Amino acid sequence: MADTYILGIESSCDETAAAVVSSGEKIASNVVFSQIATHQPYGGVVPELASREHLRAIVPVVRQALTDAGQTYNSIDALAVTQGPGLAGALLVGISYAKALAFALDKPLIAVNHLEGHIHAVLLEERQKGNYQINFPVLALVVSGGHTHLYRTETRGNSWSYENIGQTRDDAAGEAFDKVAKVLGLGYPGGPIIDRLSGHGNPRAVQFTLSQIKHRDRRSRPFGEDLPRFDFSYSGIKTAVLRHVETNKMQASIEARRKSLATISRPRLEDYLNYCDQQTLDLIASFQHAMVSDLVGKTLVAARAYDAATLFVTGGVAANNELRQSFERDAGGEGLAVYFPSRPLSTDNAAMIAAAAYPKFLAKEFAAMDFSAEAGMALSQG
Ligand code: KG4
Ligand code: ZN
Repeated sequence: MADTYILGIESSCDETAAAVVSSGEKIASNVVFSQIATHQPYGGVVPELASREHLRAIVPVVRQALTDAGQTYNSIDALAVTQGPGLAGALLVGISYAKALAFALDKPLIAVNHLEGHIHAVLLEERQKGNYQINFPVLALVVSGGHTHLYRTETRGNSWSYENIGQTRDDAAGEAFDKVAKVLGLGYPGGPIIDRLSGHGNPRAVQFTLSQIKHRDRRSRPFGEDLPRFDFSYSGIKTAVLRHVETNKMQASIEARRKSLATISRPRLEDYLNYCDQQTLDLIASFQHAMVSDLVGKTLVAARAYDAATLFVTGGVAANNELRQSFERDAGGEGLAVYFPSRPLSTDNAAMIAAAAYPKFLAKEFAAMDFSAEAGMALSQG
């Protein structure tokens, strides 16, 4: 069968992205326009600004993705776009453009759940490396700025099913990284900065206790099994960091750091290190260590309870070095295969959307032209 070229478009949050992927397994192009510089002064994503930036970027980003792939509007086989979850206005920019293109070109359009995209980022890269031997069921941890979700994932032919077996009750893990970085005057987004600074502090200097939430799953399950859920909670640790800052009178040095870093347009690691004393570095390392231990610990218990054969760890926080090392060490110790996307494919991108669309293309699951953005879209049975 000839290769199928799908143009993917992603605009759910603060990245305008377009990519061409062939037959769900080869990235022909992957263009990501990040809006970080726009949102940085506000310390987080401003939805109205995100929509405006998507509007400005979408046409050139899509054009670039086609050019990089050596494709044209007419040569692609189908279009795919993120339907949700995400910011409603931001999603609408991608959806409206994808609909207009699909209509004008008379090509099929596929609507993709962003979380399904993150899961397929892992598969896409494994297939690109020639690895088709993934054992199911897969337990997928999608861990990003908006999500900390565990899915038990199965596949039958071109049909995928996802059962949510746990998720955060409050803040997502990436949100906790971002909020703690903000509290410590480190700027936005916090995850990559905390990741780089953690290696310079003592991860055992401050003890954080994360809440343990475990309960029976009362929903009816297909085979009447009575398995627990594995929920997370990360709003408490942010408050604990805040309390530590107050107790140790760190506010003045944080304010000085915030002001100094604001004068540097692209701070480097040395700049951050210049403005962080050892006490701050120890706090950062301890925070990251507590987050990683909780994510890895709960995911591995869930993997055992649900008899997972393989683990996928994906989403922006999956770029974290300590998280990757801990998963590799601890899952490896239990004989559980664990896969991550490469760092560029961990964070938001459109290659994952085009890859997730491929089985739907084969199954002819095309979107009706009147579908709309679903800001709170859940990922469920396929
Ligand atoms: O998947 P993503 O790009 O967007 C969402 O769907 O949310 O994830 C962005 C999140 C941000 O919260 C960011 O701080 C976090 O991922 N992140 C990281 C790292 N790189 C990005 N968190 C920890 N360590 C990293 N290296
Ligand atoms: Zn994402």
